[in-house]
Amino acid sequence: MFENPSGPWALIVHGGAKEMGPGEEDANRQGVLEALAEGRKILERGGTAVDAVEASIRKLEDLPIFNAGHGSSLNEEGEVEMCSGMMDGRDLSVGAVGAIKGVRNPVSVARAMLGEKETLIVGEGARTFARNKNLPLVNNDALITELRESELAEHDTVGAVALDKGGNIAAGTSTGGLTGAHVGRIGDSPVPGCGFYADNHVGAVAFSGDGETIQRLALAGRVMAALDRGEHPEQAVAKAVAMLPGTGGADADGGGIAISKDGRVGWAHNSPDFAVAMITSDMNEPKAWLGKKEEKNG
Ligand code: GLY
Repeated sequence: MFENPSGPWALIVHGGAKEMGPGEEDANRQGVLEALAEGRKILERGGTAVDAVEASIRKLEDLPIFNAGHGSSLNEEGEVEMCSGMMDGRDLSVGAVGAIKGVRNPVSVARAMLGEKETLIVGEGARTFARNKNLPLVNNDALITELRESELAEHDTVGAVALDKGGNIAAGTSTGGLTGAHVGRIGDSPVPGCGFYADNHVGAVAFSGDGETIQRLALAGRVMAALDRGEHPEQAVAKAVAMLPGTGGADADGGGIAISKDGRVGWAHNSPDFAVAMITSDMNEPKAWLGKKEEKNG
């Protein structure tokens, strides 16, 4: 039941902090717009931020251009292991899975974990949990695409944050992780306070990028503290992303999206590209960009 069913709403999604290959621009732009449309439908008809975030990320996972779900990066043994996290800002519940194999939509497993006492489960246990919740399982090799087999190093993630008409906020992430990583490696994406966070009293944030550095900096927590001080989400995320090279070295890059509790939306990145799409109750049409350079050039 909504306390304020006609409040402002907002949704922002991203397709990962990365460098797009030649000819990949249209698929990235189209992909984030399609994902946005899935979540938008839910928010417009008065659905919850949690449902909108899950729906948007499911679409991103299904599209092979993004490193999540179908089209995930491969680890050192040439296998897909995926991570996903979701957070419900109503009660600070967290659901996350790490190094999970053989599920079609990791974000829906993370979503199902929101109802559990545990916040994060990994590996075979996470797949068993998905099976017990009747979520679709797939052969792990069916998640591999030709694009990822030829890839050298990626650590991008997809994500979404939403504010619904009832003033509820949610965040979510999903990733195939870091190309060539050790088996069992878990990055920032399923770790609350690092790759994501959501709190109805403050706002929400989701990151992509160098997962180890994002964890070392507890980057989502820093953005939440900045939002709590009243900083604009754009400024809060930009300052957080700018910290990455100082801790992780010159190559440490990333990107993030954020919403404040009053519906202000912002995003920033220091990666070469970062496809983003957003819509708010004040906008007639969604907007999408492949990075800040494109946004600045109009
Ligand atoms: N940011 C995704 C990862 O490092 O796994």
